Amino acid sequence: ALPAPFTVPLPIPKTAVPVRPGHYEVVQRAARVEIIPGTTTEIWGYDGTFPGPTFDLRRAGRTVIRVRNELPVPTSTHLHGGVTPPGSDGYPTDLVVAEGRGFRPPPGAHAGHDLSQWTFHSGARDYVYPLDQRAATLWYHDHRMDFTAPQVWRGLAGFLLVRDDEDDALPLPKGARDLPLMICDRSFEEDGAFRYPEVDPSLLVKAGVEDDFMEGVEGDVILVNGAPWPVLDVDAARYRLRLLNASNARRYRLALAPGGRFVQVGSDLGLLAAPVTHEAITIAPAERFDVVVDFSAYPVGTEVTLVNTLGTGSTRDVMRFRVARKAKDDSAVPRRLSRIDPPDRSGAVATRVFDFRMTGQGGGAAWTINGRPFRPGSPLARPRLNTTEVWRFTSDFHHPVHVHLAHFQVLSRGGRPPAPTDAGWKDTVDVRPYEVVDVLVRFEGYRGRYMLHCHNLEHEDMAMMADFEVI
Ligand code: C2O
Ligand code: CU
Repeated sequence: ALPAPFTVPLPIPKTAVPVRPGHYEVVQRAARVEIIPGTTTEIWGYDGTFPGPTFDLRRAGRTVIRVRNELPVPTSTHLHGGVTPPGSDGYPTDLVVAEGRGFRPPPGAHAGHDLSQWTFHSGARDYVYPLDQRAATLWYHDHRMDFTAPQVWRGLAGFLLVRDDEDDALPLPKGARDLPLMICDRSFEEDGAFRYPEVDPSLLVKAGVEDDFMEGVEGDVILVNGAPWPVLDVDAARYRLRLLNASNARRYRLALAPGGRFVQVGSDLGLLAAPVTHEAITIAPAERFDVVVDFSAYPVGTEVTLVNTLGTGSTRDVMRFRVARKAKDDSAVPRRLSRIDPPDRSGAVATRVFDFRMTGQGGGAAWTINGRPFRPGSPLARPRLNTTEVWRFTSDFHHPVHVHLAHFQVLSRGGRPPAPTDAGWKDTVDVRPYEVVDVLVRFEGYRGRYMLHCHNLEHEDMAMMADFEVI
């Protein structure tokens, strides 16, 4: 049986330890863990944990992560939000296959049987992350062609925090009062197994979900850091909460009950120019919000619940904070946080439109960009390095649009100014049904092949993805 909400303690993922300076090793493997008390769940996790270990790293500290795959399926690991050279970006057909296992592209794979589009590493490979980018809450997750959704659902996701001197110098809450919170939904069988409507549970032969789940898969249990509706005792003090929506398809509108505010200090890609106060935050898959909550605003003993006002029944609760004790707090939220130049459309060298929609009908229906299902090696755009462009996203549904490598600022939504939750540097934007969202994208870092795609993972697997090539 599912636990009563707010009875399981909030886990904090352990911090990865380097094998030598700048070098880490992580093993993707199956493990049995207790998520629903009294039962066990087989997960696929980095180091057999879900979430995976947190990589706590510094800006420009070049890091090599060796990923060994001991799973029965191929994997590809993407650092979401990373300014990463193309060879380490986790391209969906650039795979690690467990030692001794062969691999054939699954029949019907969107990449087809053109073997020139596939790369295999046997056993393990090194991903190289220069991390020459501002402090931010990044995350890593599986990105395998056609099977990202079921593989992330089984647990292949974790945090990577980039820190820098600018962020460290601010008096924001630190240490035990700086908490990464990975929010995602899952469903479970009676015996504790994850429930997911894949058509092929081996994840080796046939991609995809049962027809009823074309729009995406949502679960009825909300997990934070892998625990169902957890509870955390907090000091009556400020906390920095790094909120990540790692769900496959669910959007949340987060609020505090019995009331309270989030003071947003960071977005997907680090500090805002100045804090923004929200009563509620809508967070789409893959988005991050770095917020400060001041628990000294509540009397000791208060139970403060993080709720999801878009949810009903069991998906309305997320987690609870119990204000346990008075405590000293020398943190503060400064009025200025960082320097971000406001986006200037006039500097853009091109405007491109990407239309995210369902095309075709019945068995031929697919999620596409500009009418095309994903085809590796045939880029939809060739932006130039060190330029900015306006990218316009149009849509027929909720599509959280994510761009690899390039960071952007939201210019407008439906011709109107961006929402308060659009502030700062972003890599994912919540494009709502029939909305037109313009973003100013800066191509920096590396030339080569990257991707843009919908981060509703079922849409992504159903081909709502495209290459672009930075030239
Ligand atoms: Cu979070 Cu292309 O991914
Ligand atoms: Cu989508």
